Amino acid sequence: MNQHAEALVIGEAPGEQEEKHGRPFVGPSGSEFDRSLRAAGKHRGKVSLTNAILCRPPENDLKKFLDVQRRSAKLLGTKAKSPVECCKPRLDREIAKFDNLIPLGKTAYRSVTSTSSSILSVRGSELTIKFVPDGKIKQVMPSLHPSFVMRQRRWSHVFRNDITKAFRIFEGRGGWVEPGVVYNPEPAELAKFLSDTSKIYTYDIETDGIECLTANIRCIAIGDEQNVMVVGFRSNCTGRHIPGLFVDWYDTPLESIAMLGVLTDFFGNPEIIKAGHNSGYYDRTVIRQRLGCDVKPNIDTMIAHRSVESELPHSLGYVASLYTDAPSWKTDREGNKLALGGENDEELHLYCARDVVITARVMPPLADQVALRDQTSVYRMDMKMQEICMDMHIAGMYVDQTERLKREKQLFRM
Ligand code: URA
Repeated sequence: MNQHAEALVIGEAPGEQEEKHGRPFVGPSGSEFDRSLRAAGKHRGKVSLTNAILCRPPENDLKKFLDVQRRSAKLLGTKAKSPVECCKPRLDREIAKFDNLIPLGKTAYRSVTSTSSSILSVRGSELTIKFVPDGKIKQVMPSLHPSFVMRQRRWSHVFRNDITKAFRIFEGRGGWVEPGVVYNPEPAELAKFLSDTSKIYTYDIETDGIECLTANIRCIAIGDEQNVMVVGFRSNCTGRHIPGLFVDWYDTPLESIAMLGVLTDFFGNPEIIKAGHNSGYYDRTVIRQRLGCDVKPNIDTMIAHRSVESELPHSLGYVASLYTDAPSWKTDREGNKLALGGENDEELHLYCARDVVITARVMPPLADQVALRDQTSVYRMDMKMQEICMDMHIAGMYVDQTERLKREKQLFRM
């Protein structure tokens, strides 16, 4: 173990070559990892390598082995320890020597954090954990397993980006700056903040449901790369009309109506460009239903991302992991625009505020990519299609997305 290393890199289990040589990452996965290290301007001397499990699983297939083990334990009515659990005390002893960890793949990530998240939903965003055995804080940058990257080449640049970012953050060179957030501003304060017609404002809303025609708003955040204002609504509010909704947060009905005026002036102002992630359909419809104005002109950064990397996820979490150094924050990496429900209002307002600054921060590099790849007309066409789908939905011709996906799979035999 290289104790002068800047980070401990944790893989899954030894493969054929690793078993032969008795060292981790000496086979093809190791070569792939080396390429990512080179891209980060590093070499093996800068890391220490280990695995979540030290034995090679039969047929190199850990998942199959764990399934068989689970099934036989069930049949026998026993509870066998998994190889990951058996190896955990040894792994913990290794982890204890490092402040910075790079778990590669699901097995390593779960072993380090004792969570069951999917690696695709957490990779590329730094998180800090309290290491249970000694209570010390560790910086963790999860990424993909190199063997996955070798099978799915569209993820290669993502993997290299993650590793480069890991060292940038570990060395204190990360570019994340906490935004300034104002919660429940006075109507006049918000109006002043929204008065700059020369810039693009980003926005996000959180709701209490997933059906945009009927969902109530829990909060609206509007901002730019540095600052956000969050207008909160009581989450237990059942009222349908806005002045009623505001009364809980704003002292008087008059103040609530003033706030409604500020919001509708902003969203309905054709002179101000608004942008949001996945905003062109969901947010726009909710605002139309609840505030009674159409958000125009509107840029949807999710649609922009579709035209840049059509074959990869489009959620804000994914886009942010590529273009910003934002630490892990609670976001829906699947790209669904739904209220998460479980959070209290304060937590939800913070997530919403973060979504807004992050959208503002991904917008310039995303716009560069759209232009570089000559995708402006594709973006415009997709925006138009999105508007047609939104209008169909409002008119009652709702596209059942689960059914659509099923048909699409049949059609393309996926
Ligand atoms: N895959 C791993 O997870 N670890 C190795 O050491 C080699 C391949």
